[in-house]
Amino acid sequence: MTQKNAQPEAAFGFKQVPEADKQGMVNDVFSKAAARYDQMNDLMSSGLHRLWKDDMITMLNPPKGERAFHVLDVAGGTGDIAFRILDAGGPNTRVTIADISPEMVSEGQKRAEKEGRLGRCGLTVGNAEKLAFPDSHFDAYTIAFGIRNVTHIDRALTEAYRVLKPGGRFLCLEFSHMPVELAQKIYDAYSFTVIPAVGKVVTGDGQPYRYLVESIRMFPKQDDFAAMISAAGFSRVTYRSLSGGIVAIHSGWKI
Ligand SMILES: C[S@@+](CC[C@H](N)C(=O)[O-])C[C@H]1O[C@@H](n2cnc3c(N)ncnc32)[C@H](O)[C@@H]1O
Repeated sequence: MTQKNAQPEAAFGFKQVPEADKQGMVNDVFSKAAARYDQMNDLMSSGLHRLWKDDMITMLNPPKGERAFHVLDVAGGTGDIAFRILDAGGPNTRVTIADISPEMVSEGQKRAEKEGRLGRCGLTVGNAEKLAFPDSHFDAYTIAFGIRNVTHIDRALTEAYRVLKPGGRFLCLEFSHMPVELAQKIYDAYSFTVIPAVGKVVTGDGQPYRYLVESIRMFPKQDDFAAMISAAGFSRVTYRSLSGGIVAIHSGWKI
């Protein structure tokens, strides 16, 4: 029987938790992971995340010339996407990072300072579901391995649409689903055993990495996520699956 005053729930990995608690639990994962985040990314994906991210930047294709181009990189963490965009774009390409975790933003700030990038890269703490930016403000919106952590994905997509200028592009790189069942089984066996174990050795705690792997399985399949992007108002929604569907890049346009 449904309780009259039952609280709404959200998936935190394979667990159902009160919706109001989920973001705090996600923040706890990334505050613990922040210091070793970049190292763990390389270990967990055998360096493949670099190729996937490069593919997203190739699709974004920031202008090489003088044209001003301002990208919002949501869930931008330690700056991996932002710095690639700056390297690929011209002198008037700028990136603003918005990430909900102060610890991840602080790691990004350290990297930006060390690499002399602060002139063209702003780092802010903010929630994808309620962005502190005006309507029609950015030329492009990117989010990599971030959206599956958000409690209300539909709200984050609506916000992405709101802050983009007409003609602006939405690009999302996220873990996805492999259509070949055997490949998915092998990948699951790897990710559910190896990744939390490596996380435990490197960071002393395997639990955050168990959440990361479970949240991948809970994320919608390519076509379903494409439908959510369209429902937020985007046009010409397409996706490319990479590495047999381990990840996918979804694209949409605000027209
Ligand atoms: C797996 S990391 C990805 C970092 C980076 N984009 C990359 O590809 O390396 C996920 C990031 O999402 C951020 N995040 C989770 N929920 C968020 C939200 N509601 N709004 C903004 N950022 C969020 C986390 O703090 C974390 O930095």
